[in-house]
Amino acid sequence: MCERVPHTTALEHEEQEARPATVPAFVDELVVALTNARIYQPDHPRVLRSLSSLSDQLKDLLRQSTRSSLIIGAAEDYLFHEGQPLLGASLSALRLIKSLEALGSGGIRFAEGASSEEFLNLVYVLGRGTRGPSRVDDANQVLFDRGCRRIHFLNPYAELVDGDGAAHGGTGPGQASPWGALHDLDSLLDVEQSAKSVTEVYQHTVADLQEITIRAARGHTVSLDNSQGDVEELLKSIVHSGQALLNLCRYENYDAFTFGHSIRVCSLALYFASQLTENKELLQRIGMAALMHDVGKARVPFEVLHAKGRLTQEERAIMSSHTEHGGRILLEIADSDPATVAVAFGHHDRFGVDDLGTPKQSIVTRLTKICDVYEALTAVRPYKDRMSPIRAYRIMLTMDGAFDRGLLRRFMEINGVYPVGCRVELSDGRSGRVAKQTRVLTRPQVQLESAPFCPTEEVLDLSRLRGPDAVHVEQLLPETVGKTL
Ligand SMILES: [Fe+2]
Ligand SMILES: [Fe+2]
Repeated sequence: MCERVPHTTALEHEEQEARPATVPAFVDELVVALTNARIYQPDHPRVLRSLSSLSDQLKDLLRQSTRSSLIIGAAEDYLFHEGQPLLGASLSALRLIKSLEALGSGGIRFAEGASSEEFLNLVYVLGRGTRGPSRVDDANQVLFDRGCRRIHFLNPYAELVDGDGAAHGGTGPGQASPWGALHDLDSLLDVEQSAKSVTEVYQHTVADLQEITIRAARGHTVSLDNSQGDVEELLKSIVHSGQALLNLCRYENYDAFTFGHSIRVCSLALYFASQLTENKELLQRIGMAALMHDVGKARVPFEVLHAKGRLTQEERAIMSSHTEHGGRILLEIADSDPATVAVAFGHHDRFGVDDLGTPKQSIVTRLTKICDVYEALTAVRPYKDRMSPIRAYRIMLTMDGAFDRGLLRRFMEINGVYPVGCRVELSDGRSGRVAKQTRVLTRPQVQLESAPFCPTEEVLDLSRLRGPDAVHVEQLLPETVGKTL
């Protein structure tokens, strides 16, 4: 069972083509270009395709607005646009943010008409790391010397809200400060201090997955040492602030290398497993296996991995080979956990039992498989919108022989009809985020909002309210913040 379910149709393909350009998608593409440039030569078709897509997306974005340039700000581990944090896009962009920080730059200005070649120069400078310029002026000089006139680096905290201003000074009177926006971000994430660290954990996990993917794609042996630390942190986040991490996992982020998918599957697996056991060692092993389940995609050709329409039979076979690639990549690591290797090899296999009725797959594989398919169904993909949990459950229940049915039932109970982290509207008109499941599947605890995306301290336990007029969940609300940020 491939996780690209349900299969796309020609219509869905057309709908995808019609999607308007967005700033988060532009930033995601820039991250893809930077990653590709580290894997391949600058003139490789994959790098060139990203660069030309960036140039096209910029054109569309500026056509949609009244601006003549696009400014992406960077401060405190976040990217910004027009004074607002780009939360979803920042999650995969830690390396880009750190590169700008190393230059002492507060962002990048992309002026109308920036060409693929100019984007290539930007990628070149950002990819130089410690071998490159260490100051904004020097970096801009390199860009200028290479013929780049429409892209340049900004000084710290400058022009985060003024899309067409000329001055590049620091934050002065009347200029919006990124710190104000960071404060707003705290309220979006529900919890002040802990939410920031959850974001950090997420960013570092993506950055480490990027390194693993780059090494694996180049045929090198990978190390899971950093990822072990990441899983430890994700587990802590799930235990202490499951809502904050699962909220974060709901941000739409079309990250082209499926890092987001891997982290979401890992977080779901940790959340699910932590309701079944308190055994830290087992939880760590489950988290690592779930995080690495698709590592083999690093060796699947880019064109197949990112095919927009329905895959051909041949492409499907190539895509399916990621399990074999993944198992082999992990087997090359001297002390890799057999459970992690088994999940990479077997997470698309059907569920089966031996003559004694014992499952042929380990609990880690069976559990990861459920989270994998559920995530693929309920996540946004470039070719499809988000599916409700209840619809995903219905589909999973009809996938005969795919899952351990008992475990799937436990997953549905634990994850609920309204999973932790979802925004919901109540029957009395109030809205909030699901904070915790209760014994009643349709009546979770909800952290109320005073305004959209502004959580209050008040948590309403819907399972305690009974009677025909009792407040209930009216509907799941779309993650509109994720769409724009
Ligand atoms: Fe997979
Ligand atoms: Fe997967």
